[in-house]
Amino acid sequence: MTITFSVAQNIAKTADIRVIFVCPGKAAAASKAAAAARAGSRETTGARALLRSKGFKGKAGELEVVASEEGHLTAVVGLGEAPTLDDARNSAASLVREIKRHTSVVCLPPDLSSCEADISSWAQAFAEGIVLGNYQFDNYKSKPEPSNLRKVTIVAEKQHATIRRSLAEGARIAEAVCLTRDLVNEPGGTLTPEVLARRTVKMAQNCGLKAEVWSLADIKRQKLGGLLGVNRGSEKPPRFVKLQWNPPGKPKKSIALVGKGVTFDSGGLSLKPWKAMAHMKNDMAGAAAVIGAMSALSEVQPKCRVTGYLPLTDNMTGGDATRVGDVLQIRNKKTVEILNTDAEGRLILADALSLASEDKPDAIVDLATLTGACVVALGDSYAGIMGNDDSWIETVEDAAKVAGERLWPLPLPEDYRKQLDSPVADLANIGSGNGGTITAGLFLSEFVADGIPWVHLDIAGPAFADKVSGVDPKGGTGFGVRTLIELVRQF
Ligand code: BES
Ligand code: ZN
Ligand code: ZN
Repeated sequence: MTITFSVAQNIAKTADIRVIFVCPGKAAAASKAAAAARAGSRETTGARALLRSKGFKGKAGELEVVASEEGHLTAVVGLGEAPTLDDARNSAASLVREIKRHTSVVCLPPDLSSCEADISSWAQAFAEGIVLGNYQFDNYKSKPEPSNLRKVTIVAEKQHATIRRSLAEGARIAEAVCLTRDLVNEPGGTLTPEVLARRTVKMAQNCGLKAEVWSLADIKRQKLGGLLGVNRGSEKPPRFVKLQWNPPGKPKKSIALVGKGVTFDSGGLSLKPWKAMAHMKNDMAGAAAVIGAMSALSEVQPKCRVTGYLPLTDNMTGGDATRVGDVLQIRNKKTVEILNTDAEGRLILADALSLASEDKPDAIVDLATLTGACVVALGDSYAGIMGNDDSWIETVEDAAKVAGERLWPLPLPEDYRKQLDSPVADLANIGSGNGGTITAGLFLSEFVADGIPWVHLDIAGPAFADKVSGVDPKGGTGFGVRTLIELVRQF
């Protein structure tokens, strides 16, 4: 059920719970309380006394729900000294997890005089946090406990139209993230390439995008040798989906978004041990991020053309699975010796990057749960960023900063390329030494045509979470969606 956001002049007496955001030791806290009191209650004063007795300081992450003598509930949310937009998102997400049994809430925004955020960007981040924190995946629960939250009202004296627009924008972006989460959380046995393609086409029809789906026969005709090679061990046919947003008028620029869509990665004949396989339904999180981001484009209305390239298959161990030592030929004619069938993502991305290059976009971004090595290097919450053009890397980094997603750069040194040399083919699919994330990036760079700025995001760490943290639930996080939307908006 969707949440409706609105703006009001006063605190609605009818709301189930009111929310006050507090920064510690600031005039802000006092003025907030004063505003609350003005808006009508002795109750707030009672609540303040109660909070004082609990030692509430207003630090980021602090959250208390207090009841007045009359029984009215107030949630007090600490924001820290100089709250950032990340604090706005994260505190809204913790808030909603705490109060989702209520139907309506009314919120007094914080005093933003001491921070860089204005009310409009705060409202957007707040709405993102509310919708992201409210997310749950219970398709397979026999007794789901759905959230009751339906109505969130912000109290403000002025700028109602601006705030309303920002709230709607934040909610729309977060819904796109939730679509990605839903796709990632769906089990690999259910969300086969065929099903994922079908769901993507449906989304495209509802969201003003063009979609084209290639069947197995089309994929053979198009000579996508990487995708065919990875699919050989599977009972399920592969799909290749092309999605397109065409802005009104003639676009001056175009951007290609490429996403790894391995609907389940068993490792193939180089089989993964059970623990490493446990979350491999998430190996299509790159494709899902592209799908989620593109679902919001008709509302974001970017001025550039945006094309998504999604190679979809699972990586299985069937009787005719690609053998170690086999050689595959990628769309761009380069040949690859398969030394480890578990390094499959780069093979399907190689075809997709070749196809994207043929369309001559002004820039390419790919997203992929590509290497365990990236998780070792950067941990669970940073994606690795690599590419062939410093200024394009910087542009993507800036978009991620605005969106509140964490990226960290890794180099693509030319001299590491010899790790990929093969005695029988143009290159091998794994490097011979350390630095697995970098050699994977260098592998991909071989399939991007010269002169096209390209960025690769290795999202193996942040695409899937094993605990609730910030705006992230357990499971699929929807990482990358917010960055992509921000990126195409500016492009
Ligand atoms: N899908 C995995 C990478 C992965 C690991 C994603 C952990 C999410 C979390 C990828 O296909 C893979 O198996 N990569 C291998 C590459 C190796 C064989 C060179 C890896 O990282 O072990
Ligand atoms: Zn793999
Ligand atoms: Zn994989």
